[in-house]
Amino acid sequence: MEHKTDFLVIGSGLAGMSFALQVADHGKVILISKTVLEETNTWYAQGGIASVMYAPDNMEKHVQDTLFAGDGLCDEKIVRMVVKEAPEQIENLIEWGANFDRNTDGKFNLNREGGHSEHRILHHKDNTGAEIMRALSSNVRNHPNITIFEKSFALDLITQHHLGRPVFRGNPGIECFGAYTLNIETNKVETILSKVTLLATGGSGYIYQTTTNPPIATGDGIAMAYRAKAYVANTEFFQFHPTSLYNPGERPSYLITEAVRGFGGILKTQDGVEFMNKYDPRGSLASRDIVARAIDTELKNRGEDYVLLDCTHLNAEELKDHFPNIHKKCLSIGIDMTTRPIPVVPAAHYLGGGIYTDENGQTTIRNLYAAGEVACTGLHGANRLASNSLLEAVVFAHRAAIDSIGKIQEIKWQQGIPKWDDTGTRIPEEMVLITQSTRELQSIMTNYVGIVRTNARLKRAIDRIYILYRETDELYARSTVSVKLCELRNAIKVAYLIVKHARQRKESRGLHYNLDYPRK
Ligand code: FAD
Ligand code: SIN
Repeated sequence: MEHKTDFLVIGSGLAGMSFALQVADHGKVILISKTVLEETNTWYAQGGIASVMYAPDNMEKHVQDTLFAGDGLCDEKIVRMVVKEAPEQIENLIEWGANFDRNTDGKFNLNREGGHSEHRILHHKDNTGAEIMRALSSNVRNHPNITIFEKSFALDLITQHHLGRPVFRGNPGIECFGAYTLNIETNKVETILSKVTLLATGGSGYIYQTTTNPPIATGDGIAMAYRAKAYVANTEFFQFHPTSLYNPGERPSYLITEAVRGFGGILKTQDGVEFMNKYDPRGSLASRDIVARAIDTELKNRGEDYVLLDCTHLNAEELKDHFPNIHKKCLSIGIDMTTRPIPVVPAAHYLGGGIYTDENGQTTIRNLYAAGEVACTGLHGANRLASNSLLEAVVFAHRAAIDSIGKIQEIKWQQGIPKWDDTGTRIPEEMVLITQSTRELQSIMTNYVGIVRTNARLKRAIDRIYILYRETDELYARSTVSVKLCELRNAIKVAYLIVKHARQRKESRGLHYNLDYPRK
């Protein structure tokens, strides 16, 4: 089957949905999601979205906090642009119906998180992402110009390569003509021809064993863009969130938002001793890379499985009111956070790099935009400041919408695109090959490419990933496409890029910490 649309949006998180809503008055939109619309990283966001709202906060403070967290690698022009445009994007979210908590005086109730010098995180209790998704998905579902395909899995972007013309990375003439997608219900591959395509496929946490990300986060967008010969950058900067609930066997790991520390929660070792002041004068509210590494060091030195996040000194009613879902979750495993400290461990959380874009979300492939976690815009540098990612998603989706609306009239659908060819392939005979390789990959990434790295661990990782790559590509070549196989193939590609970039970076910086290059 072939579809034609003006705008193809791959991904239904904050980036994809906010883009779709803005371009839908200028053309037909197809929005695809590999499971259901709401199952996204965005849905699970707890802490909130950063924006300067009131004095004593100001734009310069938000800029400086972002630059400081980014450890010298942020693009300052982009940082200033995003911080400046934040309040307008918050207004947009409110217009779409998202609610943020307010104080009795009507002003927003602002959280504070690690690395922020002020309270500037707008939030809805401790489930901000779900509230934003509720508002956006209701608008998207009701817009007459937006057609939603759920259970639709993007396999590959269509470029000149599919017309038999060779394409090379860095060739400025590469164009995107749409995507091949697998209709998971019919099991048929469909062709979606588009004038403009937005990749908004989110994160990659599922390449690690312990992650806060839902299972959709397998790095598909980065892998697709890389295969189409786009530039991908900064993937060595994988962020580990310091505090996920220690609850062995639960996957994904349940996040304990950094806002709990902003509210006064204190990290302690199991014997009740505070330890963060040994590592940073900001203590439990140091930036995420520092806190995650400090916890990792304490766990290794002490041979323990978790540290504690102590909130027992805080007002119990206020704590429950502010963090009702976290309180309920902890109770479900027998911990009342108002009277007992919460056991926590770091977990893979956010990919700081991704598909390289300019200030309008345009990638190095013409008519292909990227926004949200899949993109590398220059905002985060070597380490993302907490709650800057929802902000990045909404700012760049807006900019990509404006830029592409300006171009859409001049773009034509490409003729002569062949159908997906799977002649000679058959259903993979043994699923165990796929599940086992997925587990192997997660184990390699966790053991050798985690919070602390060494050259020897990275070398071992690349050697093992190469074996998985070869085996999986052989299996892919002889198999009809399936979601699990494609996700594995994509995850291997992203893992390969992370290790490749990590090996190229001969220093320790931000989230990339290599013991062979101690920081001076
Ligand atoms: P997502 O919201 O992840 O959406 C990705 C979409 O792409 C999904 O619809 C998925 O189905 C689709 N997709 C993926 N691959 C394919 C494919 N092959 N075919 C079709 N569709 C595909 N950030 C903050 O700023 N503040 C927070 O408080 C915060 N808390 C967080 C808490 C948790 C537990 C997690 C996991 C992340 C948190 N983050 C937070 C990070 C933030 O939520 C994400 O970076 C952001 O929501 C990403 O949005 P997105 O639109 O780029 O992607
Ligand atoms: C959190 O709430 O701690 C997560 C915030 C983020 O990832 O930006």
